[in-house]
Amino acid sequence: MHRKEIIPLERLLEQKYAEILCYPRYDQKEAEKRLHELERLRVKALEFAGDKKAFDLHVLGKGYVGIVVVVHTSTGKRAIKIRRIDADRIGMQHEAEMLKRANDVGIGPKLFDVTDNFLLMQFIDGTRLPEWITALKGRGTKAGIQKILCEILKQCWQLDEAGLDHGELSNAPKHIIVETDDTPYIVDFETASCNRKASNVTSICQYLFIGSQLAKTLGRKLREIETTRLIHTLRIYKQEQTKENLENILVACGLERRIN
Ligand SMILES: Nc1ncnc2c1ncn2[C@@H]1O[C@H](COP(=O)(O)OP(=O)(O)O)[C@@H](O)[C@H]1O
Ligand SMILES: [Mg+2]
Repeated sequence: MHRKEIIPLERLLEQKYAEILCYPRYDQKEAEKRLHELERLRVKALEFAGDKKAFDLHVLGKGYVGIVVVVHTSTGKRAIKIRRIDADRIGMQHEAEMLKRANDVGIGPKLFDVTDNFLLMQFIDGTRLPEWITALKGRGTKAGIQKILCEILKQCWQLDEAGLDHGELSNAPKHIIVETDDTPYIVDFETASCNRKASNVTSICQYLFIGSQLAKTLGRKLREIETTRLIHTLRIYKQEQTKENLENILVACGLERRIN
């Protein structure tokens, strides 16, 4: 566990912390504006913890659009995505709208609120999928992995059904977090869209079973993935995104057939 620092809003304008509020370029005016947004969101403190770093502070994650940190509110811990000032997005509204749609079919961290520069959501206290898989050892490893993969594919199918394309699942080392109770969460709906064909299942299969470092690891650990058959079933699924066609994909991956 890394050391954590809990900083109340009153201290956030100290340069060290304000630098995170307007990452990657410190700007006092912008930091003040953002502080007001945090007040509106009823955030009481930011918690710098996690295995990633932004400057020399620990954070949950860092991407091209945002820095994600834990925040404390009167109703508990949440995760907040802070829009980077160099992000090529004018605000967080699009992502909030996409996440809301995902939430409507039970997917993603729950969205709580949004402002121009912040997205307040459920904190997923867990481990990114590749690390979660490598950390599993001993009896039950294979069954444990299969259960999670099955659940991930099911979630991707639900997104396909809802017509919401995540957009970044074909290479998703940072976009699936497995919570401590072994529930996988798909995160980052920033590039999601309802205006193109949803290809979440085919993208995630590409990542999990065909073309990535993780696919190699999984191939070794599971040994039951029939790649040729999988590619064939994916082709059929692409034409018709039905539950039956999804089940054929699961079978080709050696995963259980039944989806509840
Ligand atoms: N709700 C959350 N709970 C915990 N960690 C999160 C949450 N949302 C995102 N993260 C972590 O922060 C990282 C960066 O967030 P992300 O939304 O991917 O930002 P970007 O759009 O900049 O890529 C993610 O890859 C993930 O590891
Ligand atoms: Mg991301």
